Formats: sequence, C-alpha cells, structure tokens
Amino acid sequence: MPEVRDGVHGRGVVGEGLLTSGFTRIDGVLNCEGVGIEVLAREVGTPAYVYSSAMVRDRYAHLDGALSVLPHRVHYTLKANSNAGILRVLREQGAGVDVVSGGELFRALRAGFAGSDIIFGGVGKSADEIRSALTAGVLLVNAESEAEVRLLDRIAGELGVTAPVGLRVNPEVTVHSSHRYIKTGEKGAKFGIPFDDVLAVARLTAELPHTRLVGLDMHIGSQLFRLDPYLDGTERLVGLLEQLRAEGIDTIRYLDIGGGLGVAYEAEQSPDVERFARALVSRVAPTGLTLIMEPGRFIVGNAGMLLTRVLYRKHSGGRDFLVTDAGMTELLRPSHYDAYHRIEAVTPRGGQMMADVVGPVCESGDFLALDRAMDDAQAGDLLAVYDVGAYGYVMASNYNTRPRGVEVMVDGDQFAIVTARERYEDLVRLELDEPEWRQG
Ligand code: LLP
Repeated sequence: MPEVRDGVHGRGVVGEGLLTSGFTRIDGVLNCEGVGIEVLAREVGTPAYVYSSAMVRDRYAHLDGALSVLPHRVHYTLKANSNAGILRVLREQGAGVDVVSGGELFRALRAGFAGSDIIFGGVGKSADEIRSALTAGVLLVNAESEAEVRLLDRIAGELGVTAPVGLRVNPEVTVHSSHRYIKTGEKGAKFGIPFDDVLAVARLTAELPHTRLVGLDMHIGSQLFRLDPYLDGTERLVGLLEQLRAEGIDTIRYLDIGGGLGVAYEAEQSPDVERFARALVSRVAPTGLTLIMEPGRFIVGNAGMLLTRVLYRKHSGGRDFLVTDAGMTELLRPSHYDAYHRIEAVTPRGGQMMADVVGPVCESGDFLALDRAMDDAQAGDLLAVYDVGAYGYVMASNYNTRPRGVEVMVDGDQFAIVTARERYEDLVRLELDEPEWRQG
C-alpha cells in the first residue's frame, strides 16, 4: 500500500464526513486528485492555478446538505472565482449564483444559469447593469439605498416588469474577521442600508408601482469563524420582517444571510455548518421564509493551488530570497491583506530554510510569504501555494504587462485548461495604434 498523506486539508473543518482533500501526497509525490503535479506543470507551464473539481463538489454538497434542515438556496458568489470550469461544476450540482456586476451577470448567463438562479447585488450598480439584471429576470436584486430602489422602480417601469427587490440591511453587529478590509456589517460601513433607515426604505419599496419587496439580506464580512454575528444579524432581520408584517407588508419570501464562512489557511477551523444550520432553524423556520446563503470562499477557497517555479535563489542582507515566477500579480492576498498561504516544494529536497518568497514585480510589496520556515528550494524547483481557489485569479492583474496565468480544472485522473494563459497580443488587443483624434 502506498502511503497516502493528506497534504493540507485533513485539518480545518469540523463535522461529520469532511472533507476529502483535492491535494494529496502518495509516496511523497504531490497530486491533485489523480493527476501528478510535476506532470501537470510540464504540460501547462507556470504560473498555473489548479482546481480540484471533487473538492468543489464536496464543499458545495456539504453546505447544501447542512442547510437542508430549512427551505434554502445556495447561491455561489462569482467574485471568488468566476471561470467557466468552476461554474460548470457548480451548475451541475444545482447551485444558484450571486453576481455583483454586469460582467459577472454575463458570465453566469454564459455558463447556463437561468435568470431565476441569479441574485444581483453590489453597492454601486449602474443603470445599465440594473437594466441587464431585470431583462435577465433575476431572482432578486439586493438594493443598498433608497436612491437605488427608486432607480429600480424607474427602470422596471420602462421595461414593463416588476423588480424583485431584496434590501441589503447593514445589521450593525460586531464582526471578527482576519482583516478590516473584509468586514462589512458594522455601523458606518459603505455597504447596505443603515439599520435605522431600513423600515422606511422597505415601505417605499412596497409602495412603488414597479418594485416588489421579496427579500431581506445582509452580508457581514468574509473569512468569519464565529457564528454569533450571523445569528445576531439574522435576529435583527427577523425583527424587521415582523414589523413589516405587522404593517401589512407580507410579500417577503427570502432571508439572505450572505456569505463569509471562513476556511483554513493555516490552523483555523471552518465553522461547523451543521451546528450553524441547527442554530438558524429556531430563528428562521417560524418565519416560513426560504434561507439564502451566498458562499464564495467556503466552496472554492481550499480547492485551488497556485503552481509557481523558483527562478532564482539569492541572499541579501542576511535573508534568503526565493524569486518565483508568480507574485502579487497572480496572488494579491499576501501583500494586500497580509494573508497567509501555505507553501510547499512540490518535490521536497529534504531540509528546511527560512525564506522570503517574492515575485518578479518591481514593487517591494510583491511577495507571497515573508520570513517563512519552509522546504528548502533551489532555482528551477516547483512550489505549491495552497488555498488560492478564492480571490486568487479573479484578483490577478497585468501590472508590469504580465500575462495572467493558466487555469486548470482537475477531475479524477483528467485535467483540462479552462482559461488559457494570456499572450502579449491579448494585453494590447484594445490599444489603438492609430487613434482617431476628434475635435473636443
Ligand atoms: N455576498 C456578498 C454580498 C459579498 O460581498 C461577498 C464577498 C460574498 C457574498 C462572499 O463572501 P465569502 O463567502 O467568499 O467570504 N478579496 C477578499 C474577500 C472579499 C470578499 C468580498 N465579498 C479576500 O481575498 O479575502
């Protein structure tokens, strides 16, 4: 029997039946499902984002199963990872989606999601985006201000439809997250309708001729581990629902509690979603509403790795640097949020080193890890940067005119490129060699 070691993900999530890892070592050889990583790198080059289909399915099924104690819908949040390969897997699982821009709406429709499977959210929707969402017949538009509700009413009137509106409430609860940039549900955030204003906006939505108030919504933050802010927020939404019903407004059908469930990057433990669901039942079941969740990271975060090659190893000022062919342009999270991503040599040489793993971009803030105790590595070695399935490729940039890397889905012992590596021509495709000058 070969020795099978779970590379990363045996740890991390509490609860029954969890969770097969997409990434395992068999006799020391790193695989994604049934595909050897060294082989894959030879075939597709680096930098490459590699995703495990099985793990995406597993995470989705796990959350969906846990929530089945209530009438519910799981709407995967495209902003975490929106390539057609991931969307295909989730559509086959029966997921709905949550989009926050015309571009994401375009992707969702292109991937075969019906309008009625789509929630449209976002703090700054343009009139064009609202028009596209209403034309697509989305399930819900989650509105974030009175002005937006009025605009929805006007555009729905022009189109001859009724806009199904959810109100994104800022529940103003205390949120604990790993970084202040990813908290949203506290007082004074730019997101949502301030709690004290919600009833007035709800009454307006119920009164206007072309809007219908069908949902109450919140999203309190991302990479969250404590359940109490969700439960506190849910109670606040249920309180609003009861007040509105007492006033005779009884059109609300959905209670959308957003995304934000945390995942393991280091030694964290994801929330126990069975326990979470049980805690929600007593609060949500009496309302008769359908619960909606909009998870992103929980579904895909641990299901992806970034493969990068060491270009140089150098020593400077008493430090050892591994200069890799991926950096902040491929994975912004370390430099933007001080985020930790585990890094291993794909084929360890034995031995350890303290390294700064840095990218090739001309910025001192371009790093994947600082002061990291890790496998000893030399120029030419392949490194696996784990847990980049969420907010990895989608936050990549072309800074320094760097083409974005390739995205690969693995399914069993097969793999397929789902997003080709960009070429230089792709990067200048929209530039005009002979611009047409007009009189201003
Ligand atoms: N719903 C709404 C309205 C959201 O704004 C978000 C994420 C989600 C759902 C999904 O949250 P998740 O389940 O993935 O935590 N770039 C940051 C994360 C930003 C999250 C933005 N909103 C990062 O890399 O940590």
